[in-house]
Amino acid sequence: MRILVTGGAGFIGSALIRFLINSTEHSVLNVDKLTYAGNLDNLRDVSSSKRYFFSQVDNYFPQSMTEQLFGMTNFFKLIGNLTNQILSYPTNTEKV
Ligand SMILES: NC(=O)c1ccc[n+]([C@@H]2O[C@H](COP(=O)([O-])OP(=O)(O)OC[C@H]3O[C@@H](n4cnc5c(N)ncnc54)[C@H](O)[C@@H]3O)[C@@H](O)[C@H]2O)c1
Repeated sequence: MRILVTGGAGFIGSALIRFLINSTEHSVLNVDKLTYAGNLDNLRDVSSSKRYFFSQVDNYFPQSMTEQLFGMTNFFKLIGNLTNQILSYPTNTEKV
């Protein structure tokens, strides 16, 4: 299967991707904006896998996701925002 994980450079998303690459045969596309919380070091040990792909995209804007969604069979949304950002940018948070 081809699996899309948004927020995959974060705490939970990176753990999920490490599991999917190391313990299954699935391919994973990680779509992450790389905010203060996103850290690709979390994925260092799977980044060289031929089944792992990364795209730095802001998921606030659905049109930017169109190409990424092609052919995906499963979708895990693990994007996160700090509470103070939710209060400052409520519309963006609702879109995510
Ligand atoms: N960690 C917990 O204990 C916990 C508990 C309950 C619920 N959650 C929820 O689970 C989700 C993941 O949690 P986490 O701890 O892994 O969060 P995290 O903050 O560690 O990671 C969030 C990731 O989302 C990315 N991101 C943020 N905005 C984005 C955008 N607009 N487009 C693309 N990527 C974007 C960040 O770069 C980061 O890599 C969150 O929604 C969180 O609220 C977490």
